[in-house]
Amino acid sequence: MFKVPPVSAPRLQELLRAMPKAELHIHIEGSLEPELIFALAQRNDLPLPYASVEALRQAYAFSNLQSFLDIYYAGASVLLHEQDFYDMARAYLARAAMDNVAHAEIFFDPQTHIARGVAIETVINGLHRACADARAELGISATLILCFLRHLSEASAFETLEQAQPLLDKIVGVGLDSSELGHPPEKFARVFARCRELGLHLVAHAGEEGPPAYIWSALDMLKVERIDHGVQAVHDAALMRRLAQDRIPLTVCPLSNQKLCVFPSLADHNLRQLLDAGLCATVNSDDPAYFGGYINENFTQVFAATGLTPRNAYQLAFNSFEASFASNADKRMWEHRLKETFERFAEQD
Ligand code: HPA
Ligand code: ZN
Repeated sequence: MFKVPPVSAPRLQELLRAMPKAELHIHIEGSLEPELIFALAQRNDLPLPYASVEALRQAYAFSNLQSFLDIYYAGASVLLHEQDFYDMARAYLARAAMDNVAHAEIFFDPQTHIARGVAIETVINGLHRACADARAELGISATLILCFLRHLSEASAFETLEQAQPLLDKIVGVGLDSSELGHPPEKFARVFARCRELGLHLVAHAGEEGPPAYIWSALDMLKVERIDHGVQAVHDAALMRRLAQDRIPLTVCPLSNQKLCVFPSLADHNLRQLLDAGLCATVNSDDPAYFGGYINENFTQVFAATGLTPRNAYQLAFNSFEASFASNADKRMWEHRLKETFERFAEQD
């Protein structure tokens, strides 16, 4: 591993913003800013139960995952046309590029939209066009991961997969999100097995609020390649060893965990513990419009609150590329840029 040069504490915050990174846990519907929700509601002539952007933002006070999901699904209901999905993803990618995100793997929730009569091709084509344009215009690489809603049935997931079948060249993988408690991963074992046969990458949310058993199940029953969140793994020593030995990445989202009360405060976050145990942890924004910050805000706030080091910064950015589903050639290119950024900061310090 690259010997990380010394960087002074005040410069570390700048370095966190400047370093190239991959974002692997971002729900595109969770990037919908209140301003865009209002603009789309107006464009689509839809009523909103909030008087203003400020009133909507004030409703963003959550006590757990479900209290957030209720508002998140309501916000997503303004998305109707391909251009709406395009505008949402294009806005996120422009914002991510400002945070020096070199590569993003973007989650989307088709069942939320299908239930409102929106065709899955409207969703996927809009998002995919935004990814293509962002690559051409901003130089950012972006791919799509279709998430199944775990509070819905296995049959609904299979039906969604069927509808997505003609569009599978536009997605790189599938995931599992929504209400975790009471919805263990094994309910979707057959759907994930089918997705694996289709050559899709597999990830799942597990161990955000749910117990370590859900992480075991995601690994052994769904055969996922990454765990989204996974912070509850620290309560199971055997699981920690498994995650470290198999280099199973965890896509950790510090501000999300803080806002959904997974930890009492950001200072109590266990990111350092995960890194110290040798896990391939990464930092991500989850639902940045709802949780108070995009990826750089997640980095700077969790570092300030928990006293992580320049070495941890390098490791987290390196892990994000290693954990991605990008080509090996792209990974080597981004790792090279990462080293250059650290060397430049050390020289200028
Ligand atoms: N957890 C589960 N489902 C979600 C989340 C999350 O953090 N964000 C959007 N859907
Ligand atoms: Zn998530």
